[in-house]
Amino acid sequence: MGEDKLTTTGFFRKKERQEKIVMVTAYDFPGAQAAAQAGVDVVLVGDSLGMVVLGYESTVLVTMEDMIHHSKAVRRGAPSAFIVADMPFLSCHLGISESVKNAGRLIQEGGADAVKIEGGRTSFAAIEAICNAQIPVVGHLGLTPQSVYQLGGYKVQSKDEQSAATTIKEARRLQEIGIFMLVMECVPAALGSFVSSDLHIPVIGIGAGQDCDGQVLVFHDLLGIKTGDLPKFAKQYQQLFPEMVTGIESYAAEVRSGAFPSKEQQYEVAGYEIQDLMKLT
Ligand code: KIV
Repeated sequence: MGEDKLTTTGFFRKKERQEKIVMVTAYDFPGAQAAAQAGVDVVLVGDSLGMVVLGYESTVLVTMEDMIHHSKAVRRGAPSAFIVADMPFLSCHLGISESVKNAGRLIQEGGADAVKIEGGRTSFAAIEAICNAQIPVVGHLGLTPQSVYQLGGYKVQSKDEQSAATTIKEARRLQEIGIFMLVMECVPAALGSFVSSDLHIPVIGIGAGQDCDGQVLVFHDLLGIKTGDLPKFAKQYQQLFPEMVTGIESYAAEVRSGAFPSKEQQYEVAGYEIQDLMKLT
């Protein structure tokens, strides 16, 4: 981070000054170091780690233990970053006290500054209790990947007037309940724009158009550390996966040819000759 660590009120001020907020996901020590050195405003330990790091088909297999493990690594890599950690699937739906306890674990054990919770109406009660426990909460509306089976796939949400109106009402209610930031994923740009101007809290978009108060991208999408198609809303700024393969291919070729390790990578000792050692064995 170039400047001092932002606080929840710092994000409101950024919105007031119309300064865009930059959020990126990170899941490990070097990723967090890179995000911090690049000077992003928020590092999100997203449960997208289930897909991009652990190779699962969706985020629903990610556990509290996974989130804590990865949040700790991110905190070590970015000691002064504002870190938000995702509440994983079901961690907010097994009773209020369990939800507050889980949110608290991400803060106390994971080292996060805030938690992100997917969903509208069905998450209100848990979100309110977590806010009341003085834990800063980021909301998440639109495409909520933990509900992918209910939503019938990774599709643009709130495409008709009725569902867009529901999203607006849910966003307003979440703000009333006390969240300090809202992520909107995969919704029409006009809705992202409306909600951003309607709420006083910052709205961070991912596939929600250019008028949001900030943007978030998944680390592996933006750096090209993956195979397969990118979602329409993502932009790839580097293509690191082919370079990773090339690097490993070069290493493999040199091991096979005997070029690696060379004298530069080996240790020499002046203290003994191998012939003398033979006498001792
Ligand atoms: O898990 C995640 O990475 C997220 C972002 C896509 C917002 O929730």
